[in-house]
Amino acid sequence: MSNYHIKDLEEYYQVYRKSVNDPEAFWEEIAEEHFLWRKKWDNVLSWDFKKPEVKWFEGAKLNITENCIDRHLSARGDKVAILFEPNNPKEGVEKITYTDLYHRVNKFANVLKSKGIKKGDRVCIYLPMIPELAISLLACARIGAIHSVVFAGFSSIALATRINDSNCKMVITSDGSYRGKKTIDLKSIVDEALEDCECVESVLVAKRINSEITLKDGRDEWLQPLLNQASDQLTATVMDAEDPLFILYTSGSTGMPKGMVHTTAGYMVYTAHTFKNVFQYRENDIYWCTADIGWITGHSYIVYGPLANGATTVMFEGVPSYPDYGRFWEIVEKHKITQFYTAPTAIRALAKEGVEYVEKYDLSSLKVLGTVGEPINEEAWHWYDDNVGRKKAPIVDTWWQTETGGIMITPIPYCTPTKPTFATLPFIGIQPALMDEEGKEIKGNQANGRLCIKFPWPSIARTIWGNHQRYKDTYFSTFENMYFTGDGALRDEVGYYRITGRVDDVIIVSGHNLGTAPIEDAVNEHPAVAESAIVGFPHDVKGNALYGYVTLKETGEGRNQENLRKEINQIITEQIGPIAKLNKIQFTDGLPKTRSGKIMRRILRKIASKDTSNMGDTSTLLNPECVKDIMDNVL
Ligand code: WT7
Repeated sequence: MSNYHIKDLEEYYQVYRKSVNDPEAFWEEIAEEHFLWRKKWDNVLSWDFKKPEVKWFEGAKLNITENCIDRHLSARGDKVAILFEPNNPKEGVEKITYTDLYHRVNKFANVLKSKGIKKGDRVCIYLPMIPELAISLLACARIGAIHSVVFAGFSSIALATRINDSNCKMVITSDGSYRGKKTIDLKSIVDEALEDCECVESVLVAKRINSEITLKDGRDEWLQPLLNQASDQLTATVMDAEDPLFILYTSGSTGMPKGMVHTTAGYMVYTAHTFKNVFQYRENDIYWCTADIGWITGHSYIVYGPLANGATTVMFEGVPSYPDYGRFWEIVEKHKITQFYTAPTAIRALAKEGVEYVEKYDLSSLKVLGTVGEPINEEAWHWYDDNVGRKKAPIVDTWWQTETGGIMITPIPYCTPTKPTFATLPFIGIQPALMDEEGKEIKGNQANGRLCIKFPWPSIARTIWGNHQRYKDTYFSTFENMYFTGDGALRDEVGYYRITGRVDDVIIVSGHNLGTAPIEDAVNEHPAVAESAIVGFPHDVKGNALYGYVTLKETGEGRNQENLRKEINQIITEQIGPIAKLNKIQFTDGLPKTRSGKIMRRILRKIASKDTSNMGDTSTLLNPECVKDIMDNVL
């Protein structure tokens, strides 16, 4: 790929203006120069945020895996594509070259075909961070099957909901997974989930922990013997630009998780282009993103973006605390990592353990540090800058979402001067807007409002699987002709953006996006619970933690509160997963409600955050007396 790096701030503004004045010409040039097309497009962009409908590179034909693998074979066949760092460092790394990857993806894709998977079929992937995970994504993409990765920390009920929502025909899983000192029995979670999934015809099982598992006759098979027999040659299926590439579920403020649908060409162009610029990627760099491929960060910036650039991308199976809190830095030193991309929650957790773990290692290879998933607080930012980057590696605070597919607001390292807690400037081609409560755009700098995007970018999610109306209602109905992000933001005097957090009922806990409604539904399943309301409150490691206000039925009164708390969290773990457990549970006699019966979460949020100086307008409350009682008993 030729060089399309941005060199300095002046060039950034120049290119930015060009991208905004003529977006079609801008993206067309990038698409022309840097990718392999079976056929070029007839039309660069058509869009209508009212419908809403967005199409990029319509008429083009391609396969994303030819861009991520085949075209690198001649020049980079022996280069490491995926560097696998296992949970236990004693196991040793695995290096998968581009040639190996080509063969392994072809074999896997041939296995999928032999199991009857065709273009457009949905395949659910429920795997730990082992090479088979990245390979299975690419194998699906190679034959045009739509992958739906479910993070392997979700419970069987959460897995079943996602499998059924998109009618997956197959599940790819493993016997189990390693997580620090623990092993997790993934296959039995899948077995439980599949009791409620009639759509699944076959299950492929990768061997990871060598545990005893049962294979259901006619449904389950070990993966490896099938791969051994499969051919390592296969012609990629030619896809249309707008054919779906994958579905990835994200929480909404209400109801079912939303299956965000990403399509092929635009997603490829945008993730590749942002990867190269945001991480200032150069040919011999060793890039590491610590996310799990179960989230969008892993899809875009472990798999597709890096591989489309012919990069070496590290896949880490383990956790930052095993064998000790120096694990990240040991890996950075060992592989001479050049770009390191992680979440604020990991930074805060490691900062708590002291600098000894960082100081032991040579981190001089680092050129760029990234953060993503939630706002980074000033203290964590400086800790990262001082101790990891040693003030020599700029921090890119990258704001984006599952729905945006790629990074949207970010500094460009060595170009945009950074400012702690600010994601700084929109990426080239991105047109943010801040809106006031009346739905008017706030112009000029020094503004504070709801963050929207005015114009489509290539990797915007095209719909919610099976529910286009919900897509429209959630993202395009709050503000006319705008994509609404659900976040609040402020713009400073030079136009830098700072994301202030969600303005809806989504709470970001340790960088995981959690909707309050499904957790409340889980809590309410406890037979003693009458009603519940969940809000976030500030937490020094997790960013936010969950606070539950629970009112009990008569049958629950007089019961041991500690036991009730445990039982409630147990139900949440079963229905969603341990990430959604409540940190604090306060039992209350009532919940503050408006006359129309809506729970006033604003008040509950303030109480949980111990910020009751200004409670705002409570005059519309039906039962103001319960507020004092809740305040007196706050945890
Ligand atoms: C929400 C999206 C994008 C991959 C991981 C999360 C929050 C994300 C930042 C940041 C402040 C951030 C937003 C956003 N968020 N990055 N750099 N600064 N907030 O993807 O699970 O779809 O969550 O994460 O609130 O809306 P996601």
